[in-house]
Amino acid sequence: MTSLKICCMGAGYVGGPTMAVIASNCPDIRVTVVDLNAAQIAAWNSSSLPIYEPGLQAVVESCRGKNLFFSTDIEKEIEEADIVFISVNTPTKTQGIGAGRAANIKNCELCARTIAKVSTSNKIVVEKSTVPVRTADAVRRVLACNDKGLTFQVLSNPEFLAEGTAIDDLQRPSRVLIGGEETPGGQEAIQKLVSVYANWVPAAQIITTNLWSSELSKLVANAFLAQRVSSINSISALCESTGADVSEISRAIGSDPRIGPKFLQSSVGFGGSCFQKDILNLVYLCESYGLNECAEYWHQVIKMNEYQKSRFTKKMVERMFNTATGKKIAVLGFAFKKDTGDTRETASAFVCRDLLAERAKIHVYDPQVKREQMMLEFDYTLNVNTTTEPDLEKLITTSPSAYDACDGAHAIAILTEWDEFKTLDYQRIYEKMSKPAFIFDGRNIVDQAALRKIGFEVYAIGKPWPSV
Ligand code: UDX
Ligand code: ADP
Repeated sequence: MTSLKICCMGAGYVGGPTMAVIASNCPDIRVTVVDLNAAQIAAWNSSSLPIYEPGLQAVVESCRGKNLFFSTDIEKEIEEADIVFISVNTPTKTQGIGAGRAANIKNCELCARTIAKVSTSNKIVVEKSTVPVRTADAVRRVLACNDKGLTFQVLSNPEFLAEGTAIDDLQRPSRVLIGGEETPGGQEAIQKLVSVYANWVPAAQIITTNLWSSELSKLVANAFLAQRVSSINSISALCESTGADVSEISRAIGSDPRIGPKFLQSSVGFGGSCFQKDILNLVYLCESYGLNECAEYWHQVIKMNEYQKSRFTKKMVERMFNTATGKKIAVLGFAFKKDTGDTRETASAFVCRDLLAERAKIHVYDPQVKREQMMLEFDYTLNVNTTTEPDLEKLITTSPSAYDACDGAHAIAILTEWDEFKTLDYQRIYEKMSKPAFIFDGRNIVDQAALRKIGFEVYAIGKPWPSV
């Protein structure tokens, strides 16, 4: 007999891994993940999971079919559940009020409407998706409109996992945050969710707050993390101008425990589904309360990121004698960071777009990203498609390996920090490249001195450029 039933709406990067870890730590709880997308559910039920995440496959296989299920029968699973998680995508609005800033919560609202329609018993509804502050209010009001006299408690339980380390982050979270109403019913619901996490998370790491603090904390956590990356990236530009070395600066400042060493790795710019979206959300929130200075303060984090991405391509073109036209450029890495196949807001797409504008011939290799996904990203985030760029298919090639991508290339741009790029046979690559052979390291992962010894001209973010 299972004690509790959980249903999660949305089988994506957050819903899938989170529910797999809950199921594996709570054998008495029956967990079902549902999605509108049948192909996504079929993939979760197969040996080829829809997302790449180290350790995920083993966790899923250990409990799938026992107390973890993936299904498209959304209504039945909601009806049977005691707790329903909403873990759907909330992308930035592309049109209408708040376009380019506000998150679109239409998927959350749709979930709430479905829950209200099909439920026949009281339930706890948990917001897992990152949402604008006060979304819980919208969800609660939609749920309250049910005509069956049912009571729903809405909780906010934002996810702090980072892609590429999701399983570890979920197994050993720095904290679990649960926000709920201050009423007795709200407190009871909070305790029920606390008891789920208490199966494997120490009590001291489970933080409970009011609903709005929980929702806002998620945006603020991501804004602070992104701010650190933008701060160090701003310094990388200064390093290149002065001869200082950004890695030395990160080490020097990060060893002050008040600053700390993490998120000080200078890069070609941050990407991912959260940072930009959440900061824009925060900016929109500040603006809507008339707090324009606060809005502008946070907006600067995004502007610095835009600058970092475009600065990189400019530098590439400049170093290649001010022209990339017709040159073969090997782009190593398309995912927004290593150990994931996720391409949302990836800096690599921005660099490729700017290289396309220069009419370079781009050969991309990424161990986890398929061409179809890459093209979707160009279209969705950058509006680059075969209509806006008729030569797109010709100008962008996807290569089966790093060596193929680099064969005959004028330059290599390393845009994702995949470990395999650290150990490539650069001597072999050099021999087959056009000369002078350039390497532009957007992640500071290669041994610059060794590469220069081979003969490469190396440019790395925030590093001194020796006179040649
Ligand atoms: C982030 C938060 O870390 C996580 O807590 C939240 O739940 C979701 O958003 P994620 O987007 O998966 O996670 O990746 P993260 O590791 O935070 O990296 C975001 C971007 O910043 C990546 O493009 C990464 O390459 C970049 N980054 C990170 C740097 O450029 N330098 C750093 O030092 C750290
Ligand atoms: P995240 O990174 O937040 O997990 P994803 O895009 O990876 O976002 O996953 C969100 C999932 O939610 C998608 O698979 C999408 O099909 C699903 N989804 C969106 N709306 C609904 C809905 N109303 N009911 C069920 N699933 C939904």
